[in-house]
Amino acid sequence: MIWKKQQGLLLGWLGILLQLVVLTECAIRRQRIQKKNNTDAASFPSVRLHILDEYVVVHNGLVNVTLSNPGGMITGIQYNGIDNLLENDYKENNRGYWDVVWSKPEHPGDIYDKLEGTSLHVIKEDENQVELSFLKPWTSSNNVLPLNIDKRFIMLRGSTGFYSYAVFERLEGWPDINLSQGRMAFKLKPKLFQFMAVSDERQRIMPTSQDRERGQILDYPEAVLLTDPENSFLRGEVDDKYQYSSDNKDCQVHGWISTNPPSGFWIITPSNEFKTAGPVKQDLTSHAGPIALSMFFSTHYAGSPLIINFRDGEPWKKVFGPVFIYLNSVSEDDDPLTLWADAKEQMLIETQSWPYNFPMSKDYPYAEKRGIIAGRLLVRDSHINQRLISARAAYIGLALPGDTGSWQRENKGYQFWTQADDRGYFVIKGVRVGKYSLYAWVPGFIGDYKYNAYINVRPGNTIRLYNLVYDPPRNGPTLWEIGIPDRTAAEYFVPDPNPTLMNQLYVNHAEKYRQYGLWDRYTELYPEQDLVYKVGVSNYQIDWYFAQVNRNAGNKKYIPTTWQILFDLDDIDEQENYTLQLALASATDAELQVRMNDPGTETPLFSTGLIGKDNSIARHGIHGLYWLYSITVPGSLLHTGTNIIFLTQSRAEIPWRGIMYDYIRLEGSSQSIGKQRRKQGKVSAPARNP
Ligand SMILES: *[C@@H]1O[C@H](CO)[C@@H](O)[C@H](O)[C@H]1NC(C)=O
Ligand SMILES: *[C@@H]1O[C@H](CO)[C@@H](O)[C@H](O)[C@H]1NC(C)=O
Ligand SMILES: *[C@@H]1O[C@H](CO)[C@@H](O)[C@H](O)[C@H]1NC(C)=O
Ligand SMILES: *[C@@H]1O[C@H](CO)[C@@H](O)[C@H](O)[C@H]1NC(C)=O
Repeated sequence: MIWKKQQGLLLGWLGILLQLVVLTECAIRRQRIQKKNNTDAASFPSVRLHILDEYVVVHNGLVNVTLSNPGGMITGIQYNGIDNLLENDYKENNRGYWDVVWSKPEHPGDIYDKLEGTSLHVIKEDENQVELSFLKPWTSSNNVLPLNIDKRFIMLRGSTGFYSYAVFERLEGWPDINLSQGRMAFKLKPKLFQFMAVSDERQRIMPTSQDRERGQILDYPEAVLLTDPENSFLRGEVDDKYQYSSDNKDCQVHGWISTNPPSGFWIITPSNEFKTAGPVKQDLTSHAGPIALSMFFSTHYAGSPLIINFRDGEPWKKVFGPVFIYLNSVSEDDDPLTLWADAKEQMLIETQSWPYNFPMSKDYPYAEKRGIIAGRLLVRDSHINQRLISARAAYIGLALPGDTGSWQRENKGYQFWTQADDRGYFVIKGVRVGKYSLYAWVPGFIGDYKYNAYINVRPGNTIRLYNLVYDPPRNGPTLWEIGIPDRTAAEYFVPDPNPTLMNQLYVNHAEKYRQYGLWDRYTELYPEQDLVYKVGVSNYQIDWYFAQVNRNAGNKKYIPTTWQILFDLDDIDEQENYTLQLALASATDAELQVRMNDPGTETPLFSTGLIGKDNSIARHGIHGLYWLYSITVPGSLLHTGTNIIFLTQSRAEIPWRGIMYDYIRLEGSSQSIGKQRRKQGKVSAPARNP
């Protein structure tokens, strides 16, 4: 009795203590956020600008940034007593810069351009803000990128870092081009920056460029086996920059830590509105060098569909950025790894402050010049629930008008995405004025939603759409399914890497698929016969390989594979059609052929044809672009008892051609809906989420 009472008391005290701890932590956090939110910026020294012959220096008592004049290359960043965070040994135009890769449509071959400015303009200079513009106008001479470029750099008072953005513009009638990549790159001092952080789970000590040079190049130049690294514990590991890629939605802060003096260099992306191809577009982040990138557009994990093509003199203008280059430090006694937590906190401050209220370009609208879209998305799938289902965690976005699902290839406009809450409610804030389509996809359901009208956003407008209903593709009841419809292959079996080709970071890691060489593990796991999956017996987490790769037949020969799905049916309606819903998470120069019960038929029941350029197998992505096929299966091809679907990826040759499945479902005939309903009687299930 007494013990119980004491225990209660003890628990009570513990509770209060815990609450105190939490409260104090919140208070400290709030204080820090306020401090970093520049509310007391006035207590910091003024921002100052010095224009020299060949350089321009901007500083605010915390950071000094030196740029070439008029090129606008970042040649030096002084911070925390460090003379330059960038590598002095590199040429001045090879430390911190914007660049693009482009080509003339009719001339094969990429042209690389560092967007060197030809004139400097001081846009704003007062004690609180300096904004510089480096212009590179098109000169109409041959072989010069037909774009006007306006590179901007901003330093604010009391802020440890600087912002950069750029306006790209083409006028009507300018020469046709292909634009395949645009980014900012920073090459940091290798002596300082050895620890890289891309996310909470992806942080490690990285090899150096020299380590890579002394290593052994694997199947492509980006992947190197570290045979003689300076840090001996890195020996025997694989390094490949693509192992550190990220979905844009998950890449709002990444960068590097120096332990001595303890300092951090971070790229913070406060919004993805200026990125191409939606929230699940993947790209590079930071990698060995040490290099930190801000990728604005590229063909990575999508291929040629994301080349930005301008034909027939099409005009264009787009603002990329601002992104924030954030620097932080702690005292020698503190743990330098806390700089990551601080960088994440700063990322939240930046994202909450978006759209920013300080960039001076007339092409960058502030919040009051933008609009808001709100609504609720529901899903209608009577085979799951008779009532409408909340589109929980749905991805909902505005992109240029186009076909359903076109956002994943859209690359000229702005895109504005959010995720719905548990009940499907969504708000998209800060939308630039313009005409859009509203798109969505819902984890747990196949296909793409598109709202049937255009959304015209006007300054300061709030558009309420109320209840929107998505009818995902469905022709009949589910007979069986494999996987989870979420546009990735992450739920399937991912093998351990070859022990001689490991990246230690990804051992016992949720993103195990980022290991190198997994394509060759398939042949080791299935030496004789290709994968066979038995519905009702097999488990997709164990028995479905994450990618349909090719069989390594030795001597650098790779041959096609055919996977089988075995399933039992006991009640066939030969007059009716069944439907195979086939969702792919990735395809690279592949052709998937589907045959029913007879592997020998010359003409398959269905073929995707040659599809995909996303290269996600080679680049360790767990998805690329999304493909959905609704394949009609005549009942006459099925029989009572065991049936077999044969899935052949017919284009082999090299290890990286292949596909990843997102989800497969066999649906009964629509006729059987009626049957089922009649059997069950009129059901009115409670409106609950699956
Ligand atoms: C920053 O630059 C200014 C002007 O060149 C100079 O006076 C100052 O000492 C520099 N500060 C640091 C920390 O290097
Ligand atoms: C330009 O883009 C088109 C369409 O994406 C592509 O077919 C063509 O090969 C590209 N040309 C060059 C030189 O990259
Ligand atoms: C930062 O300051 C602005 C304006 O002073 C305020 O609206 C915003 O909520 C603040 N953000 C944070 C994270 O405190
Ligand atoms: C089955 O599908 C075929 C091809 O799409 C169509 O011609 C036929 O009418 C369908 N049969 C039934 C019963 O719906």
